[in-house]
Amino acid sequence: MVLVSPSILSADFSSLGKEIKALNESGADLIHIDVMDGVFVPNLTFGAPVVKSIRSCSSLPFDVHLMVEKPSVLIQDFIDAGADFITIHLECKEEIPYLISLIKKGKKKVGISIKPNTKVSDILPYIPDIDLILVMSVEPGFGGQQFQQEAIKKIADLKELIGKKKVLISVDGGINDITAPACVYAGADILVAGSYIFKNKPYKKAISKLKG
Ligand code: DX5
Ligand code: ZN
Repeated sequence: MVLVSPSILSADFSSLGKEIKALNESGADLIHIDVMDGVFVPNLTFGAPVVKSIRSCSSLPFDVHLMVEKPSVLIQDFIDAGADFITIHLECKEEIPYLISLIKKGKKKVGISIKPNTKVSDILPYIPDIDLILVMSVEPGFGGQQFQQEAIKKIADLKELIGKKKVLISVDGGINDITAPACVYAGADILVAGSYIFKNKPYKKAISKLKG
């Protein structure tokens, strides 16, 4: 069954701990944490201290999505703060093999994300070394955007390219009860969803609708 990773970007930040505890009891499989530096994307969010402070609110894996230009200076801090998956962007400004080695040195799962205009073939050289591919189905930076249908073909192409290797395909942006089934059919293993879950209480019902 597909896994659901709620993006806390759409949570009520005044009660972040409570929000995460509610997700624990609602069938969430991971907690997706969007880190933005105001440079790679025109928005700013959380740093490692926030991740550290919410770590005790959940035993679910923390799925940290780094939308930052220079991940190398931050990776160790997020490892220490309790990240389980660390996803960097293929389009960031640093050497991808070096970033992969930093995450692996910390014994964490490595993810690479591709923006809507990045070709699936660009990620191919890294597939043997990573655990997860995050297909962006919106331009990274903000929640609540409309799903871009082109992501479906990218997921299907990746599924075929990955073959029997153990690499998870995750999709992020505009996921709701209408867009989720096509992603799952195409081969997505993880659905990241922010506004759909946080706007549809109870969370348990929203998450189970995504799982289909
Ligand atoms: C966007 C973030 C997403 C965002 C998704 O840059 O990476 O994780 O929270 O939000 P929705 O589900 O509202 O599109
Ligand atoms: Zn994200």
